Amino acid sequence: MNLKGRNFLTLKDFTPEEILYMIDLAENLKAKKKAGELHEYYRGKNIALIFEKTSTRTRCSFEVAAHDLGMGSTYLDPTGSQIGKKESIADTARVLGRMYEGIEYRGFGQDIVEELAKHAGVPVWNGLTNEYHPTQMLADMLTVREHFGKLKGLKLVYMGDARYNMGNSLMIVCSKLGLDFVACTNKKYFPNDELVAQCQQWAKEAGSTITLTEDVEAGTKDADIVYTDVWVSMGEPDEVWTERIHDLTPYKVTRHVMENAGEKAIFLHCLPAFHDLKTKIGKEMGERFNLTDMEVTDEVFESQQSKVFDEAENRMHTIKAVIVATLGEPEK
Ligand code: CP
Ligand code: NVA
Repeated sequence: MNLKGRNFLTLKDFTPEEILYMIDLAENLKAKKKAGELHEYYRGKNIALIFEKTSTRTRCSFEVAAHDLGMGSTYLDPTGSQIGKKESIADTARVLGRMYEGIEYRGFGQDIVEELAKHAGVPVWNGLTNEYHPTQMLADMLTVREHFGKLKGLKLVYMGDARYNMGNSLMIVCSKLGLDFVACTNKKYFPNDELVAQCQQWAKEAGSTITLTEDVEAGTKDADIVYTDVWVSMGEPDEVWTERIHDLTPYKVTRHVMENAGEKAIFLHCLPAFHDLKTKIGKEMGERFNLTDMEVTDEVFESQQSKVFDEAENRMHTIKAVIVATLGEPEK
């Protein structure tokens, strides 16, 4: 498998074999890291990290991965560069492409990361847009495979806003890798018809299914993975909170949902999560809406079934794999 020179913008652009190759590569790199085996493949090379939205996991993953690979990295924060203010994306891409071997971009529309990729002349990696979060998918699938020892045939249920980056991306990766995908949510939040139709085609080829349902009992019954995300994403207006809380509260991941899924089920969340609004974090939100939690209860989040920190760790190993795959694996 050779992905050298490729952009990593959405998993729609990758075959199941290519996706599995990156997950396998991540597994190898993780084993090397755990064994303390140096893998500084790209000494003297550098990557640029553009963040127009905030981040903990994605930024740290790119920085640690770069460091482990022997590379330098430059972090451009949401306010500290000329991008989108004094300078176009196309000009930025051409400048950074002269200095760096690869560019990560986190921001708003998918069209922006595509524009960057068109002009950069070096691989561009999507670190989250409104539409997709592809690096998160590799971490999620690695976590699922580590836990269950397989991917094909498992049932993943996504509860929450399934029209946005996480819902879209999970539906894509499940349909490509043969997991049954269920969007279990208020129908206002179902993914768009065009993407559903496309994923149904991939699912058919992989021997899996796509289901959209408002029925929590049927939707989550016998699920292997129950997944959720924040109800309001970065960049969305504050005014939507009241409506989201009203519409999505029936789709909160509770102990009842996990029991309905069954003992073997695991809970995943890309994080950050609003699971405890009693403490300082989110306290203001909790008081504003008189809530103690949002998309998941603290009980589920802190339970044995929750694998969210394995998942968070795997962001780093899988992002490293994306860098290695697209810059080209070193000669053996
Ligand atoms: N899951 C995720 O992308 O986290 P960050 O926003 O902290 O990068
Ligand atoms: N849907 C969330 C994901 C955060 C990792 C957001 O876009 O804010």
